[in-house]
Amino acid sequence: MNLGAGALDRVQWLRREIEFHNRAYYEQDAPTIPDQVFDTLFRELQELEAAHPELAAPDSPTQRVGGRPLAQFAPVKHAVPMLSIQTETDTGAGGAEHFDSRVRRELELADTNTGVEVEYVAELKFDGLAVSLRFEHGIFTQGATRGDGVTGEDITQNLKTIRDIPLRLAGKPPPLLEVRGEVYMRRDDLVRYNEKARARGEKPLANPRNGAAGSVRQLDPNVAAGRPLRFFAYGIGAVDGWNLPATQNELLDALAAFGLPVCAHRVVARGWRELADFHDRMGEERAQIPFDIDGVVYKVNSLATQNRLGFRSREPRWAVAHKYPAEEVRTVIAAIEIQVGRTGALTPVAKLQPVFVGGVTVSNATLHNEEEVRRKDVRVNDTVVVRRAGDVIPEVVAVVFDARPVNEAGKPLHPPFELPGTCPQCGSHVVHEEGGAIARCSGGLVCPAQARGALLHFVGRRAMDIEGLGDKLIDQLIAGGHVRTPADLYALTVPMLASLDRMGEKSAENLIQAIKKSRSTTLARFIFALGIRNVGESTAKDLARHFGALAALQGADAAALENVPGVGPAVAGSIVDFFAEKHNSEEIGRLFGACVHWEEHEGTASASTGPFVGKLFVLTGNLPGLKREEAKERIEAAGGKVSGSVSKKTSYVVAGEEAGSKLGRARELGVAILDEAGLLQLLQGEGA
Ligand code: IVH
Repeated sequence: MNLGAGALDRVQWLRREIEFHNRAYYEQDAPTIPDQVFDTLFRELQELEAAHPELAAPDSPTQRVGGRPLAQFAPVKHAVPMLSIQTETDTGAGGAEHFDSRVRRELELADTNTGVEVEYVAELKFDGLAVSLRFEHGIFTQGATRGDGVTGEDITQNLKTIRDIPLRLAGKPPPLLEVRGEVYMRRDDLVRYNEKARARGEKPLANPRNGAAGSVRQLDPNVAAGRPLRFFAYGIGAVDGWNLPATQNELLDALAAFGLPVCAHRVVARGWRELADFHDRMGEERAQIPFDIDGVVYKVNSLATQNRLGFRSREPRWAVAHKYPAEEVRTVIAAIEIQVGRTGALTPVAKLQPVFVGGVTVSNATLHNEEEVRRKDVRVNDTVVVRRAGDVIPEVVAVVFDARPVNEAGKPLHPPFELPGTCPQCGSHVVHEEGGAIARCSGGLVCPAQARGALLHFVGRRAMDIEGLGDKLIDQLIAGGHVRTPADLYALTVPMLASLDRMGEKSAENLIQAIKKSRSTTLARFIFALGIRNVGESTAKDLARHFGALAALQGADAAALENVPGVGPAVAGSIVDFFAEKHNSEEIGRLFGACVHWEEHEGTASASTGPFVGKLFVLTGNLPGLKREEAKERIEAAGGKVSGSVSKKTSYVVAGEEAGSKLGRARELGVAILDEAGLLQLLQGEGA
């Protein structure tokens, strides 16, 4: 048993180690140890803290997660009120000039002193939620919303889940320091989060700002913990025992030195012209900045001068928000076009009269799907409100019905929107999936919009494995009219290929060899190569094993298909739909005509015996010794299956270096996590 002192050392070491790996994982996105090892460290710390309550600490990494849902938030009275700032309405350079002249007037730097410029700091105005963080002797003790500025809500539990917020300040922090700043979400994080939320059947977050504000006000801290929240410090509240720096700029540097995240986009500016320059520059860069801003903030740099200027009602005289034009603008729908994606999904897209919004000129906006267009009742020639939301693609928020064009009888000129029954690209008929929400072109291999994706899939390493046929070449072949469907590949010739850009005689010959070689394949690869919706590599292997011959698969109805382990109604439906399309069968016939063949009744995939029968594995990250393919083959040889996504059915997640979201998902679901060594042990028969 550890003595107290030994336990203390170990606990301190574990905390440092865990924080280090936390930062590597969450901030640098570059995990340094397998998650299994991380979990072991974390559990050891939890156990030590439970066994030695005297060693518990509010800044321990164990304090970031968990916690019980609250019935309501407790009120927090701010020791120093959280003020708002005045907004400069002139969105042009005038904004900076007005502010500067007000400051100069207050400071009695009359026109006679025109040579003296006031020094400012220009910062970004983050579009999230203002919070106040209280650090006592460097320990994060309480976090609060702004509320009405005087009293906010205690959201400490939620803020502790934000990895950007240190639980303990670095360096020599004062006995009391309240840090003011903004909780926000990056746009890319929101897009990724929303993809996963949709996959889980949850409602996506509308935009980063709502995402941030809604998440920190969740009563259940576990919900907040699952959201990709971040934090920027921009000021201070109550302070005790600290010699404040002389300027706002140095204050921000000091906060950064305490380990608080401070945004790098800021400048010290002399006079209004330099402020206006920053406003212009950030306005141009706005679209490239990974999070939303709604303007910039100008602050008098000297804290002494800030004090001299003081406040007017609830706003400081030394700061102003200089906004950008609204991210929501009005424009007119010139047309509604139907875009066909790589998988054949039909998406209505609004063609707009070009309009400047969120730092960019937009002329397209997604309308998501037919249902959405009908719900909003968007029609051609309508005036609409457009917003550049979390997703970089702008969206149509609403129709301005008063501005809808009508005929003499007062009836709308244009009928409600309807998706066409056939694909605008190839004329194949459109099928509706998932209760009608998704419309898809059934053209499959013959639809030109899908051709590129289908061809790339067909030639892929795990499909027909044609080496040397990349996307650039495919684009050239499609553009030149040489290839439209996979079977066309088998009619290519050396002279034809050699005539293409950047293609020599030798590489043309090599490519033709690779194409020829691909003709001898396996049933499983062939099924996978067809690119049937919902049929991944592992389903293709199951189907090959079950049916043994393509004709049997083609002839199977939904019920027969659902007899295959792992094939549910959605997969069965996709397969039936695919073979029901005449052009797909014709294409298969052409491939046979091109001598594509395989051994019938082969034992393709997983062994039906072995220690891993019935076990489902997910591989993620780079394994140090094994190649991904190798690991997969060995698992399959032992009777196991490998799938691409983690679910409750997953038996093991094998995580290597740089494992990402799958690992997080495994942790969420409590799925067993192995590293390569663990997998090898299992393979050696130490009981799966
Ligand atoms: S300073 C006394 N700096 O804008 C001045 N505020 O009305 C206190 N905001 O919701 C605010 N970025 O959360 C300041 N760099 C920044 C800011 C910023 C965003 C928000 C703030 C508040 C509003 C101010």
